[in-house]
Amino acid sequence: MAEKKSNTGVEFMDKLVSLCKRRGFIFQSSEIYGGLNGCWDYGPMGVELLNNLKSSWWKSMTYRDNVEGLDASILMHPRVWEASGHVENFTDPMVDCKECKARFREDQIDESSCGNRAYQGRKAVKCQLEGKFTSARQFNLMFKSYIGPLEESSAIVYLRPETAQGIYVNFHNVKDSTRQKVPFGIAQIGKAFRNEINTKNFLFRTREFEQMEMQFFVKPGSDMEWFSYWKEERRKWYLDLGMSADKIHFHEHEKLAHYASAAFDIEFEFPFGWGEIEGIHNRTGYDLGRHQEFSGKNLEYYDDEAKEKYIPFVIETSAGASRGCMAFLCNAFAEEEAPTGDGKVETRTVMKFHPKLAPVKAAILPLVRKDGMPEIGTKLYDELKNSFKVFYDESGTVGKRYRRMDEVGTPYCITIDSETLQNQTVTVRERDSMKQERIALDAVRAFLFEKLEM
Ligand code: GAP
Repeated sequence: MAEKKSNTGVEFMDKLVSLCKRRGFIFQSSEIYGGLNGCWDYGPMGVELLNNLKSSWWKSMTYRDNVEGLDASILMHPRVWEASGHVENFTDPMVDCKECKARFREDQIDESSCGNRAYQGRKAVKCQLEGKFTSARQFNLMFKSYIGPLEESSAIVYLRPETAQGIYVNFHNVKDSTRQKVPFGIAQIGKAFRNEINTKNFLFRTREFEQMEMQFFVKPGSDMEWFSYWKEERRKWYLDLGMSADKIHFHEHEKLAHYASAAFDIEFEFPFGWGEIEGIHNRTGYDLGRHQEFSGKNLEYYDDEAKEKYIPFVIETSAGASRGCMAFLCNAFAEEEAPTGDGKVETRTVMKFHPKLAPVKAAILPLVRKDGMPEIGTKLYDELKNSFKVFYDESGTVGKRYRRMDEVGTPYCITIDSETLQNQTVTVRERDSMKQERIALDAVRAFLFEKLEM
């Protein structure tokens, strides 16, 4: 099976976005009303993929003895965001093109022309006005709302722009309730919101997204050792889930945030270029130090072996679940020349997800809708459905059904055919190699458990 000639970045994205809609991965939010910019809905396949991604992260991060889980609320006391620096500093410089009125982040414009492709509507003529931008205004990216019925300044709340702060403010609650000792970590998965000036590239930069963050609290002085440890752990997680090694790399921050002493991004090579999917930061003692200052509560840790008190340093691993989902969608998408079985060759689109990420693990396909094959198929489906996400399909030629399952990345197709009626065996077709083997009908369940590493 040969790889088809490679697509340009734009072609690739067009095909991926179209497949995502057609096969129920990702839909535009509020589509029937024209959509809502920067927001996306996960369809039946998308939510399985996203849940598999999150559950793999959760297991790898919290099924160990030195990391605890947490699910903090999205709305937090407004002082949290003063302490974190978000009220003051979480801003982007925003400029408007004086010609077409489009709005941009100042650091993302090409000074020579506005370049807005939506200019002049459907004709997609680029706005060419040279350098005629308004001067930059600082725009805070936090979504603001009010708690209770009165819209007054004392009632302001923010939708959290990151999950990390919920962890810092619960440091002592988690430590005391679990009897953990430093070094230990707290992990959580949850929604975050940023009123991005320019949303772009599908799930890459959105206004509502999900993060998978872990804050690891360490004794000052041991921080760089733990930083290296988590950096490698996190790279390995992507590789273990089938990310191509040549599609991710580390990017070291040259300019560090004032509180950080080291920062690396894990970047993925998207069709539009390299982009961050996760940040690994040594945040020093800044976070607990600031919350101690703003809350007036003592957030020091007492080390009863060394008999000393200190503010723990934090090593943060901050991954985007939505952005990670997009990276795994890009990583999986393939178009190949494949034989049809009757001497012809056709192009098949196949999502080569790691079996752990695949939304559907196996499809049960009776070859024909007669001779008792559907009955055997539905019985097998009923036996498997409590353990795996499986799909039963009896409509269309088996070739068409294989292609449909390839498009959603189903690792195994199990066909019930005339031989099944004679000797109680089935054909198992593997998605990537398209190789087929016969196994006993009553061995299917054990086969899937083994192959899916469940
Ligand atoms: N607590 C640190 C923090 O939030 P960040 O680099 O701003 O750091 C971490 O965000 C991760 O969250 C990014 O690597 C990315 O995967 C994801 N992320 C950030 N902004 C996003 C957006 N607007 N849309 C989708 N994902 C985003």
